[in-house]
Amino acid sequence: MIIGNWKMHKTSEEAAAYMRAFLPQVKGFKVGLAVPFTALHAVQNDAVLIGAQNMSDEMSGAFTGEISCAMIKDLGAKFVLLGHSERRDVFQESNSFILRKVKRAQEEGILPILCVGEKEGQELERVLQEQLKGISGNLLIAYEPVWAIGTGKTAKPEQIEKAHRFCKGLLGKKTEILYGGSVNSENIAEIASIKEVDGMLVGGASLNPDTFAKIVHQSGRKK
Ligand code: 13P
Repeated sequence: MIIGNWKMHKTSEEAAAYMRAFLPQVKGFKVGLAVPFTALHAVQNDAVLIGAQNMSDEMSGAFTGEISCAMIKDLGAKFVLLGHSERRDVFQESNSFILRKVKRAQEEGILPILCVGEKEGQELERVLQEQLKGISGNLLIAYEPVWAIGTGKTAKPEQIEKAHRFCKGLLGKKTEILYGGSVNSENIAEIASIKEVDGMLVGGASLNPDTFAKIVHQSGRKK
């Protein structure tokens, strides 16, 4: 599976225009898009898996400004990104808070994609161990080294393999792990060929439908 993460980009009109250009180009590929809450209704379709980029750990109630799992499901989301490094850093989301969201998503029957990854200079194993504490059950992991996000730097194949193997060691060999961090049309082929990589999470390079469609083709991830 190759998933685009639009982050905080695109109005619903822009999202609909994107889909008109993108869908005909990616027939037969295993592809998903994590879009803003406000674009979920505009991207509904049968071919590309649609997801949200966050959700509340609570079911409902007095939580002004929050969006629940039932709400994103209602708009067609089949997965939800949780614990993205931007949520951890900019919005101070803690491991225990993110764990509650993962459990909520699993209880409500939507696939959580838990993002993990170390910052520059941090010890990889220690960080992954903390971020994956208490995590089990049906989910995907996205390994995104924080220093590789939006920087144009990608982890070396050995580093990616080591991190993915470590996560699989903690969660079970069958756990699927996506790699993210400055994935683009230049490096996708090499990343996709790494043995432990089950898919990719693409940020900036997913914003243009033609560029992302090209990356999807290069990834070779067919249905
Ligand atoms: P970039 O591909 O822009 O580095 O972003 C990666 C990311 O954060 C995907 O979730």
